[in-house]
Amino acid sequence: EEVRRRDFINIAAVSFAGMGAVAVVVPLIDQMNPSADVLALASTEVDLSAIQPGQAIKTTFRSQPLFVRHLTPKEIAEADKVDVATLRDPQTLEERTVDGKKQWLITMGVCTHLGCVPLGAGEGENRGEYGGYFCPCHGSSYDTAARIRKGPAPKNLEVPEFKFTSDTAILVG
Ligand code: FES
Repeated sequence: EEVRRRDFINIAAVSFAGMGAVAVVVPLIDQMNPSADVLALASTEVDLSAIQPGQAIKTTFRSQPLFVRHLTPKEIAEADKVDVATLRDPQTLEERTVDGKKQWLITMGVCTHLGCVPLGAGEGENRGEYGGYFCPCHGSSYDTAARIRKGPAPKNLEVPEFKFTSDTAILVG
């Protein structure tokens, strides 16, 4: 009897110490992992001033790749001359950009087939036969408006919500 009670007391004391340690650790972990609703509200500011016509950069928005591309007049003309009715996911370049600034093409860098990161935003990367982006996973080709033109992807690269905060900066999200 006597021994058992002491064991119980020891176990109770250990459990209490264990709970105390957990209570201290949990708030630290919480701070390092923003909750889903905090992430959903996060926006990303992008400085456009150094991105020359013909160039693109890869950054991230809500933990996913984001492509920011400065189209050349030729790339804009190529996108505009396509008959939208022939597209799998019909949209004009104008509809995929804001404020009439068709040279700034902002899209998620996530293939709409199975989510690979397409090539074409990095210097010298393969942009595919339509001059936009090329997904090497299963060969989806996107045009200069990042619209799907060939391969298995069902949709254009997604355009996130964004606005210009100045002539040379955007706020995404
Ligand atoms: Fe891009 Fe399949 S994930 S073509």
